[in-house]
Amino acid sequence: MLHCRKHNAQQDMNDIREETGISTPTAVFIAKDLSKTYQMGEVQVRALQDVNLTIYRGEFIVLLGPSGSGKSTLLNILGGLDRPSSGSARFAEHELTGASDADLTRYRREHVGFVFQFYNLIPSLTCRENVELVTDIAHNPMPAAEALRMVGLEDRMDHFPSQLSGGEQQRVAIARAIVKRPEVLLCDEPTGALDYVTGKLVLEVIERINRELGTTAIVITHNAAIAGMADRVLHLGGGRIQREDVNPHKISPSELSW
Ligand SMILES: Nc1ncnc2c1ncn2[C@@H]1O[C@H](COP(=O)(O)OP(=O)(O)OP(=O)(O)O)[C@@H](O)[C@H]1O
Ligand SMILES: [Mg+2]
Repeated sequence: MLHCRKHNAQQDMNDIREETGISTPTAVFIAKDLSKTYQMGEVQVRALQDVNLTIYRGEFIVLLGPSGSGKSTLLNILGGLDRPSSGSARFAEHELTGASDADLTRYRREHVGFVFQFYNLIPSLTCRENVELVTDIAHNPMPAAEALRMVGLEDRMDHFPSQLSGGEQQRVAIARAIVKRPEVLLCDEPTGALDYVTGKLVLEVIERINRELGTTAIVITHNAAIAGMADRVLHLGGGRIQREDVNPHKISPSELSW
């Protein structure tokens, strides 16, 4: 009887979704009981402890937490740069936990764009050439010029990194991350080395990519004000998710202040 009612409720929900055009959210990442322990000689460092989370397609997630709380460790496991000690992490239909190095390399190459605090551009290549390094090996890339246009650097394509400001270099790094049309954009303190105005410009670019391309974005920051632009904020502490806030009304980066 109960089963029957549940079924009907689900059916009703599906009907409502169909009528209103609201589609069922698709999980991009599912982590179950994820733990990561580093053995440093005699000392065990518990970087992550029993993390459970689901992240849905198109979400903008902000990861907040003090230094050492496990933010980068979590992002690196989701991005296939690191492996958990126990538990499981899945990206869409790919199980990441038991994957071989070659599988993880392919996963990163095909599905993930990374942006780090430091831009890691190749100084002897122009902006366009830095981005083309990725288009050369991607399956279905957009033209390098289009990626650079999306980050507002269409006029600077033939400049070298040393001719650009820090914020502009970070935007090249974002263009390089998105040119292969990744499903997810993982950003570890993308504004950490930038001043206020430049940092906001970079956040605007990440928000635009999330909105226009539907790319799921996870952004690590120490800056609690940035949480205002997220759909959901995960607070990490001591390797655990301590709290999760859903933003009913997210605000645009230009309206953030700190
Ligand atoms: N390769 C490693 N070897 C040993 N311990 C590590 C390693 N990487 C991270 N840790 C430890 O794991 C814990 C979590 O580190 P993590 O880098 O995930 O923190 P974080 O939240 O990103 O911090 P921050 O804000 O300073 O970047 C820390 O105590 C850190 O010292
Ligand atoms: Mg970190």
